[in-house]
Amino acid sequence: MKALILSGGKGTRLRPITHTSAKQLVPIANKPILFYALEAMAEAKIQEVGIVVGDTKQEIRGAVGDGAQWGLDVTYIEQEAPLGLAHAVKIAGPFLGNDPFVMYLGDNLVKDGIRSLVEEFERLGANSQILLARVRDPQRFGVAELQDGRVISLEEKPTHPKSDLALVGVYMFDHTIFGAVNAIQPSHRGELEITDAIQYLIDHGYRVHPHVISGWWKDTGKLEDMLEANRIMLEAITPRVDGDVDGASHVIGKVVIEEGASVTASTIRGPVVIGKRCRIINSYIGPFTSIYHDTLVCNSEIEHSIILDQCRITDIGGRLEDSLIGKNVEVFRSGEKPKAYRLMLGDSSQVGLV
Ligand code: TTP
Repeated sequence: MKALILSGGKGTRLRPITHTSAKQLVPIANKPILFYALEAMAEAKIQEVGIVVGDTKQEIRGAVGDGAQWGLDVTYIEQEAPLGLAHAVKIAGPFLGNDPFVMYLGDNLVKDGIRSLVEEFERLGANSQILLARVRDPQRFGVAELQDGRVISLEEKPTHPKSDLALVGVYMFDHTIFGAVNAIQPSHRGELEITDAIQYLIDHGYRVHPHVISGWWKDTGKLEDMLEANRIMLEAITPRVDGDVDGASHVIGKVVIEEGASVTASTIRGPVVIGKRCRIINSYIGPFTSIYHDTLVCNSEIEHSIILDQCRITDIGGRLEDSLIGKNVEVFRSGEKPKAYRLMLGDSSQVGLV
């Protein structure tokens, strides 16, 4: 069994973060999303992992390397453009050979891992196994229609969904998928759709086994989903203080303070993770916040947010909430007159003022 993790894509829903960075490397509870996928592979005893990369290939290579830290053997597969999930399978042919494989979307999180699902697929000997989850808004997903426990149709982001069963971003295939990805045509959005490839398998009599999962999973393609994923993962942290907390500070609940970080005259109410070498001074960091490495927070309040590395958040005089702040961002209050908002924002930024 091999694995194919998809980490290319356009990432339009997460601009401006994705103008400069890979969304798969946004830290969730201070661990890049992609690392959860790599851990899931190691746990499922899959060693050979192909990572499909696009424009952000350098950054992904830099973070993952050869995979040795997870005991994995990682091969990078360059996709010239985000031409669809089935296109990614197509170009991975030389890496995958005739082996069965798990395809895992690099921006997805499956809390309980995939080990038992991989074992089930191997036991069943089906040509494909798809994971499904009941959702309230199936229009946003690939949707499956089942009859007598069998998949009879699949549709990508349907206007009138035939069920509430959404495709989770983890799929298992044997080599028959190559016949399908080579036979299908691009959809109206110009992509080779994996739903069309699986439909091809069904139409040609191959066995596609549906597994409805009950555990938590998330496609983190949008801000709200990232924040929810952060919430769920923070709830599961084991508290530890490896940095310094001074006597004037209060640390309450599940809090991780990483090495080299310092907390001075501040209140940290967990679940919260504060990254390496961060400095938190005279501030309040509230529940469901993760702050990545080397960030300074001074005279400010933050809650329910993800802050990336090397930011400076100072004297904001209000509370930052429900926010995702990219790397090296400065948010501050200036005393300059006239009193006005002075912004330098990247394309597709969002600012909510009160
Ligand atoms: P999506 O989130 O469906 O697509 P996207 O990343 O282009 O984002 P958006 O819809 O916001 O524009 O992709 C799911 C995962 O698969 C994600 O990790 C990116 C990856 N991917 C590829 O590697 N190659 C591709 O051709 C596509 C479409 C996605």
